[in-house]
Order: sequence, then C-alpha cells, then structure tokens
Amino acid sequence: METQVLIGKVALVTGGNSGIGFGAAKSLIEAGAFVYITARRQQQLDEALAQLGQNARAIRADVTSKKEMEDVAAIIKTEKGSLDIVFANAGGGNPVPLREVTEEYLDKTYNVNVKGVVFTVQSMLPILNDGSSIILNASITAYMGLEGFGIYAATKAAVRSFARSWTTDLKDRGIRVNALSPGVVPTEGYRTEQGMSEQQVQDYVDRVTTEIPAGRVGTSQDMGNAVVFLASEASSFITGIELTVDGGQTMVYAGKN
Ligand SMILES: NC(=O)c1ccc[n+]([C@@H]2O[C@H](COP(=O)([O-])OP(=O)(O)OC[C@H]3O[C@@H](n4cnc5c(N)ncnc54)[C@H](OP(=O)(O)O)[C@@H]3O)[C@@H](O)[C@H]2O)c1
Repeated sequence: METQVLIGKVALVTGGNSGIGFGAAKSLIEAGAFVYITARRQQQLDEALAQLGQNARAIRADVTSKKEMEDVAAIIKTEKGSLDIVFANAGGGNPVPLREVTEEYLDKTYNVNVKGVVFTVQSMLPILNDGSSIILNASITAYMGLEGFGIYAATKAAVRSFARSWTTDLKDRGIRVNALSPGVVPTEGYRTEQGMSEQQVQDYVDRVTTEIPAGRVGTSQDMGNAVVFLASEASSFITGIELTVDGGQTMVYAGKN
C-alpha cells in the first residue's frame, strides 16, 4: 500500500492517549495526516503527544460531555478550518456478570460507548468536509458472546448499528461511515479498565491465541492500518460496513478436525 495516502488531511482520534487510539494516531500521522487526540487524563495525553511529534495536538476532553466535544470542534475549526477523518475510538468496559450489573455500571458503560460516540460524531458534523470518513470503534463482542461482557457487547452492537444508519443520514454529503471491530488487542485497557495483572493478560493471550487462525493476538498497529485504509481513498466505495480485524477469530474455526 502507498504510504503517504493522507497528506493534507486532518483527523480526530478520541481516546488517542492509549492503546488502539494511540496506535491509530501514529498510523494516521505516518500516512501524512495531522491528528488531534483527545482523552481525559492529561499526563497520558502529554506522554502520547511527546511520542507522536509535531503533526499531532492533544486536547483534554471527555466524550460523554457534548459541551467538551463541541469545544474540541471549535478549536479544530480555528486552527485547521475543517476536519476529514474521525476515529470515534474512546470507550471500554470491564466484565460484570448479569446478576451483578448495577444501574451505575449500565450508565457508565452506555455513556462512554454509546453517548460518547454520538456526541463525538454530532459535534464534528459542522466542521467535517464533504467526502470525509468516519470510523467507529465497535468490537467482535457485539456478535460473539463473552462471559461478563453482555452490557459492553450491547453498547458495541449499538455502535455497529450507527455505522449503517449514519451512512444514510450523511450520504448527501458523501461522508462515509464504517465500523471497525477489533478482535483481541492486549492494550493498557486490559490492566486499567479490566483490572487484569500482567500475568493474567499473558495467560489470556496464551489461551486465546489457540483460537485465532492468524496464530497471534492483534496489535494497535494492526488496528491503525485498518483505520488508515478506511480513512483513505482506497476505501472510497466502502461505507456502512463493519471491518472485522481479528486474525480470523470470529469467522474461522482454528482447531483441528
Ligand atoms: N483492546 C481490545 O481488545 C479491544 C477489542 C475490541 C474493541 N476495543 C475498543 O477499542 C477502544 C479502545 O480501547 P483500548 O483497548 O485501546 O483501551 P485503552 O488503552 O484503555 O484506551 C481507552 C481510551 O479511551 C479513553 N477514554 C475512556 N473514557 C473516555 C471518556 N469518557 N472520554 C474521553 N476518552 C475516554 C481513554 O483515555 P482517558 O482514560 O485518559 O480518558 C483511552 O485513551 C474501546 O472503544 C474498546 O472498547 C478494544
């Protein structure tokens, strides 16, 4: 694939200070884009920015706040005039068995994964150029039952659904909307969000790798490559889809016959 396919493009990556969002920001910059990253933790934003370099800018903002996302849009408009790529990536959720699900947990998971994605895209609409690309971060859990992840999975099914509906809402402006569904990508979130120890992450990776035809778990760079593809002209006839990037885990039986 040609490398500098996004020269002159301006991108927003929510949750860009960590994990998949950081990997995507790196890939978008390598492809020539200028990238705004947002997240809540300032120190992690500063550290990420130091690694991303001069073609990035960090803005502290919580995706669950419409006001804060509108402020992000206002800053981008002032500094760059408009936007071409949105990767609505911020999100997460820890496993909780159904009997222990509380209203607070429901609200927290829904707010970041559903409300946050709506506010991100809605707030950027006025500054998005016609022909832009919006990429929503869903998850294979939306259609692959996983113990304790029922609420999280349901929020990701909503995200996947947005890609279909918003494609029709935005077709007059030629704005494409696609969902990315990562498979297993061991990120900081496994420890910070899901509370796993290093050893637990390693044990999980060893176990799950046997179920992945590609023979390995995913990386943030794998996701970044897919984001660049969905953001670029190479995918200009692709909209409303879910691109599953999971090493074949959900579609192929990896065991022996
Ligand atoms: N890793 C996987 O295996 C996997 C698989 C499928 C889907 N996903 C999805 O991929 C996305 C990124 O996850 P990750 O694995 O990269 O985890 P991560 O390393 O924990 O990253 C999560 C990011 O979201 C940000 N964030 C969380 N709540 C936010 C809020 N209210 N406002 C703004 N930013 C917020 C975090 O920054 P702050 O805490 O500083 O705000 C962080 O940058 C999530 O949507 C997740 O559901 C991950």
